[in-house]
Parts: sequence; structure tokens; C-alpha cells
Amino acid sequence: MTNSETKATLSFSDGSASLEMPIYKGSVGPDVIDIRKLYGATGMFTYDPGFMSTAACNSSITYIDGDKGELLYRGYPIEQLAVNGGDFLETCYLLLNGELPNAAQKTEFVDTVTKHTMVHEQMQFFFRGFRRDAHPMSVLVGTVGALASFYHDSLDINDPHHREVSAIRLIAKMPTLVAMAYKYSIGQPFVYPRNDLSYSANFMHMMFSTPCEPYKVNEVLVRALDRILILHADHEQNASTSTVRLAGSSGANPFACIAAGIACLWGPAHGGANEAALSMLEEIGNVDNIPEFIKQVKDKNSGVKLMGFGHRVYKNYDPRAKLMRETCYEVLNELGLQDDPLFKLAMALEKIALEDEYFVSRKLYPNVDFYSGIVQRALGIPTSLFTGIFALARTVGWIAQWKEMISDPEQKIGRPRQLFVGSPKRDVPPIAKRG
Ligand code: SDX
Repeated sequence: MTNSETKATLSFSDGSASLEMPIYKGSVGPDVIDIRKLYGATGMFTYDPGFMSTAACNSSITYIDGDKGELLYRGYPIEQLAVNGGDFLETCYLLLNGELPNAAQKTEFVDTVTKHTMVHEQMQFFFRGFRRDAHPMSVLVGTVGALASFYHDSLDINDPHHREVSAIRLIAKMPTLVAMAYKYSIGQPFVYPRNDLSYSANFMHMMFSTPCEPYKVNEVLVRALDRILILHADHEQNASTSTVRLAGSSGANPFACIAAGIACLWGPAHGGANEAALSMLEEIGNVDNIPEFIKQVKDKNSGVKLMGFGHRVYKNYDPRAKLMRETCYEVLNELGLQDDPLFKLAMALEKIALEDEYFVSRKLYPNVDFYSGIVQRALGIPTSLFTGIFALARTVGWIAQWKEMISDPEQKIGRPRQLFVGSPKRDVPPIAKRG
């Protein structure tokens, strides 16, 4: 971050105040105006609901160029990492450490993560309190937060070693907890992790093995899942990452912060969109119903949105959506489902939307959630678990951002202010005199 020679000057038309503010330049992307002295100098706050024009921090982890549809993890394009950049754990190492691992570093990192995939045996009792049909995200919010009660040896956020151990534990145990949530929902016994399998193969094993029959690893499907995890690993200061940072700014332990991130990701405007997008496709049913559906979307009173479309930052095609569509082809071909009706419906819907002025004028393009549900459904993952897979993948991004924030000398507890529009001070009337 460097100081720009240009300053920002704020002056009031009535001449009541004038303030000069520094402008900082990053390595790429928009510059920022440092407004930290604004309130002290003017007695006023900025007003930015939804943080449309607000940089909450400086970061060197993930960069998005919304106009170009570009996504970089530590400078590497997502297209390269997802297609020929190795597996998800290499991306995890990159996000956590800033550089891709060499062979020795990768071996050590994979071995460390592998050896932390089991959860404490008592964790299983938390599941029993849930209904079998509980939404997996409610189970994950509860069980990830509960992890804090087992790891008192890694809760000191000011101890770098504690931060490192917590990061490994969360990355390693999320697949186990997500698979346990699935097994619990279908009444099958929990399946222990296997250290002889890769991270993604082990997840598929814990999801689909039973005591009667082991899961037969299909490398094409495992690679597809691994790519899904890479595509979802991090994404700058999105809502759930900002939630993790805000929770972490109070000094909350990492397990509590990740549980907060999971809660935020659950929303249909955010990570819950992949589940909502598949339900939307199933509701549309066939291509003939697309025009009526699009009509509903354009009717503001309908409350209907084209789920999996639009993005706060991408005003061009989400690069992850392109890669997800390619993965769709690979998985459906591998499974002999080339004529999958939902995939054909999704592509028809995408084509129609991208030719429609309503979407073009609002720069609404498919985002990562538009195709991810189709791929996950083909992998045998139930719709209700899609956002749980998103949380599994995003845990490394949340943790990397949390670690960066804790180590940032500028970080303070996050405490936004407000424009108060409620009642000025007034006296309490006795109940007999209330209207
Ligand atoms: C993720 O932030 C991230 O990086 C998130 C994420 C990540 O990796 O962490 O990328 C993951 O959350 C992807 C987004 C998944 N959500 C969805 O697919 C849900 C559908 N999308 C929308 O809800 C919406 O596009 C948002 C929430 C994603 C973005 O909303 P914004 O930036 O606040 O934009 P907006 O709501 O102000 O929309 C601008 C206009 C509005 O119309 P007008 O008022 O101008 O007439 O576009 C319309 C909106 O009504 N619009 C849509 C639409 N999205 C926006 N209209 C129909 N369908 C949609 N999907």
C-alpha cells in the first residue's frame, strides 16, 4: 500500500468545513480514500448501506476485477489453479502462505491435514440432538462452533502456533463434519476418514461408503469435486468473509468465527444460492416454461430472482461459472448423463437471459452458483448439502482472511456507526397516559 501524491479534498458548499484526506494505492485495483479522520474533523459519518463503496481492510489474498471477470488467488488466475494448478490442498497452502508449495512442502502439508481429519469421538453426540431432517447448515453452525470446546490448546488467537493449529484443524475436519451431517440425515452410520485417500477422495469415501460396501473411488468425479472446492476457496471481502473478520475483530476464537461465517453463507443471496438455483431449475421444469419464468423475474412485485445470476462485483461473466460449466460437461459425460435435462435447461435459460435487455442492462451474468448445483447433484450430493460443500471449500479462505486480519497492525474491533432516524429523547409517560 503506497501513498498517492494526489489527495482527496472534501469541502462543504456552505464553507463550514474542508478536509484533505490521503489516497492509498494498492498493487492492482481501485485506490482508496482514507476517511478515518472524517468524523473527528466534521462530526459526520459516511453512509454506505451494503458497503457498495467501502474497503473494510487491506488484503493480499484474493483479487477480483469485476469488469474483466478476473479472479486471482495470491496473483494466480483461477483458470490456471483450477485446471492445471494441482489439487485443492495446494490452493489451501497458497491461500494460507502466499506461495504455492514445492513438492516437499506439499507432502508435509498434506500429511499434516490428513492426520487431523478425525473429530473428537464425543462430537457424534451433538448430532443426536438434531432432527434427522435438520438443514445441514444448521448442523454445521452448531458442530463447528462446538469444536471450540475440544481444543483449548489452540484458542489463543495471539499465538501464531495456535492460529496455525486451528487453521489445520478446521480445514481437515470440515469434510468429516459435512459428511457426518449427511450420514446423520439419511440414518446411516458415520464413516471414519481414511488416511490413504486424497482430501477429496476421502470426503467422497466418508459420504458414500457404508459398513457393507466401500466407496469405489472414481478419479474423474474426485477431480471434479476438487475443482469445485478450488473454485469456492476464497473470494475477497464477500458477506461471509466479512462476517468472519468482524467476529474475529472482537477476539473470538477461530472456531466461533468460522461458525459465524457458515451462518452468513447460508443465506440464499450468498452461498445458499446454489441450492436455490437448482430448486429454481426443478421448478421451471422445462424449456417451454422459461418465458413465463423470465416474465416473473422482471415483475418487481413477484419477488422472484434468477438464482445463480448477478453479483455485487462481477459485472461480467463470473470466471468460476465458466469453469463450473466445463466441469458439468466432464462429470455428466463420465456418468453417461450427457442429456441431463436440468443441464440443458440451465444452458437454455442462460442463453435466453444473456440475450434479454433486462439482464444485459443490469450486467447480470451467471455466477459460481448457477451450475454448481447441477455438478453436485450428478456427484450424488443432495441439494440441501450444496451450501455445506461451499462452506467446506470456503473454510480455507475464511481462515486465511482471519489470520491476515489478526496479524494486521491496523486491525481494530469492527464497530460501524449509523444515521439515526428514530425518536429524539422523550420522557416515559405513565401507563395511564399512553395512547
Ligand atoms: C455468491 O460477494 C461474493 O463474492 C459472493 C460469492 C462468493 O464467492 O463469496 O461470489 C458467492 O454469493 C454469489 C451470488 C449468489 N447469489 C445469487 O445468485 C442470488 C441472486 N443474485 C442476487 O440476489 C444479486 O445479484 C446479488 C445479491 C448477488 C447481488 O446483489 P446487488 O449487488 O445488491 O445488486 P442489486 O440487488 O442492487 O441488483 C441490481 C439490479 C436490481 O434491479 P433494479 O433495482 O436496478 O431494477 O439487478 C437486479 C435487482 O433487482 N437483480 C436481479 C438479480 N440480481 C440482481 N434481478 C433478477 N435476478 C437476479 N438474480
